[in-house]
Amino acid sequence: MRILFTGGSGKAGKHAISYLIEKGHRILNVDQTVLDHPGVENRIADVTDAGQMFDIMASYSGYDELESGTGVPRFDAVVHFAAIPRLLMTSDNECYRVNTLGTYNVIDAAIKFGVRKIIFASSETTYGICFADGERKPEYLPIDEEHPVIPEDSYAMSKVVNEVTARSFQKRSGYDIYGLRINNVIEPHEYEQDFPAYIADPSLRRRNIFAYIDARDLGQMVDRCLETDGLGFQIFNASNDDHSVAESSSALIERYYQGVPVGDIGSSETFFSNKKAKTVLNFKPEHSWRMYLDGKASE
Ligand SMILES: NC(=O)c1ccc[n+]([C@@H]2O[C@H](COP(=O)([O-])OP(=O)(O)OC[C@H]3O[C@@H](n4cnc5c(N)ncnc54)[C@H](O)[C@@H]3O)[C@@H](O)[C@H]2O)c1
Repeated sequence: MRILFTGGSGKAGKHAISYLIEKGHRILNVDQTVLDHPGVENRIADVTDAGQMFDIMASYSGYDELESGTGVPRFDAVVHFAAIPRLLMTSDNECYRVNTLGTYNVIDAAIKFGVRKIIFASSETTYGICFADGERKPEYLPIDEEHPVIPEDSYAMSKVVNEVTARSFQKRSGYDIYGLRINNVIEPHEYEQDFPAYIADPSLRRRNIFAYIDARDLGQMVDRCLETDGLGFQIFNASNDDHSVAESSSALIERYYQGVPVGDIGSSETFFSNKKAKTVLNFKPEHSWRMYLDGKASE
């Protein structure tokens, strides 16, 4: 597919793009910095500027596309990752502005140019636990896509708003728009770097509901979304199968979730349910921190 990918120079995007390139997709990365990756074309632009987004949505994605003489081809899909990716990076209101306006502009331009598949990055933070003031428990476990989303911070608020925006655009267009509630993204080098500390002190992962998503598996999930047509508006949790800590589910529940209703859950199974993605998209996560820290899990 010919894909316009926003925010592809960032932590999550560069791995997702690498996965998509391997699958044979063509990528135009729209970002404020260049991604230096073989086969990736870059366009420096600001997603909060509607004029730039409309221009690029109808743009060649490389000089080779001038050759056919048949004009600019249409993008087959848009993947929108560009954002201020957490609170405390900018002012709260700037984070809200960039994330909501950027998402509006990207989806609006995509639909007006007839791009029938749009995938956008939402966040685990929509569930209100990650950036709460103090400790907030989930209403039930495992957290699935039906769990209420009433966060308190501007970043998570912007992501909830983006989901509502996307749902409205989908209603009008009838196109496929899928949002990914992405858990904490882990790059390959971060297993050795960070996970020993998580094993030693699981409370470091409480705000992520003890979950994580491998950056390459996130790429697979994006690819599965591209392959799966006809679902209209959908939200999918994006997480790996296991917790990001060595403690068992029962020990974590005993320590952190007393009084929280708990459904069926395996001893190392994630509390951030990925069942919908596995069932509907045939998502099959391939990486686990346990593969990279062999032997350290029980230390
Ligand atoms: N990293 C995580 O753990 C995580 C978790 C949940 C959701 N997400 C979401 O996933 C997406 C990617 O996150 P990330 O961790 O890769 O963040 P990142 O900051 O590493 O990457 C975001 C990219 O967006 C670009 N960008 C920012 N504002 C832009 C603008 N106005 N115009 C064009 N480009 C702009 C940045 O230059 C950057 O390359 C974001 O939407 C984020 O909210 C990330």
